[in-house]
Amino acid sequence: MRLVLIGPPGAGKGTQAQRLVEFLCVPHLSTGEMLREAIDKGTPVGTQAKQFIDAGKLVPDETVLELVQQRIVQPDCASGYLLDGFPRSLPQATALDKFLTGRSQPLDGVFELEVDKDAVIQRMIARGRGDDKPEVIRQRMATYEEQTKPLSEYYAGRKLLHAIDAMGTVDEVFSRLRQAVEQMKSR
Ligand code: AP5
Ligand code: MG
Repeated sequence: MRLVLIGPPGAGKGTQAQRLVEFLCVPHLSTGEMLREAIDKGTPVGTQAKQFIDAGKLVPDETVLELVQQRIVQPDCASGYLLDGFPRSLPQATALDKFLTGRSQPLDGVFELEVDKDAVIQRMIARGRGDDKPEVIRQRMATYEEQTKPLSEYYAGRKLLHAIDAMGTVDEVFSRLRQAVEQMKSR
């Protein structure tokens, strides 16, 4: 299955993706992780990405698209994958659709994690990743509202969107996600 996990910063995308990929036996494709890896390796993509990540802004669409397209064509993605944090702008979503339609491999579903934003800000502050400083978190939230939130309507229009209540324990959220995946499979 080709699935997408979207949701605001700190919603639990990475946490739930880890569980979901184990359940589905597909690779976990997190653009945030790919970009942090590029930064750690000091590649040109990493150097470019760092300034955007540190500012809580989106890395340019072309850069992220290139990373994802290169990854999706790898043999381990042949029977599906879970995208985490991509797409996160309308241009990324339309480019992904075009790319996947060209390969006759459309998406099967998009899960949107819905959270109380104030609650998840505390989780991020407690985690303390490089971009988890209060002012950067504020900007990441604003970027999400402006550029990523419109994807809900986009995917709802394509009958791909499944909203998931992502408040509660990790187990509770995962059980809702698993139920949604099972319902999707049985259709
Ligand atoms: P990215 O790495 O994707 O960060 P994000 O979207 O801001 O989300 P996080 O990874 O912080 O949160 P998450 O939803 O994965 O939650 P997690 O499971 O970690 O992107 C970082 C940056 O990279 C972006 O700002 C942008 O600059 C760039 N980027 C990435 N993708 C891009 C793209 N497509 N285009 C352009 N730029 C891009 O959980 C958070 C914390 O909460 C953890 O400590 C976790 O243990 C805890 N937690 C999780 N679930 C629960 C629960 N149920 N109860 C209690 N605690 C919980
Ligand atoms: Mg994450």
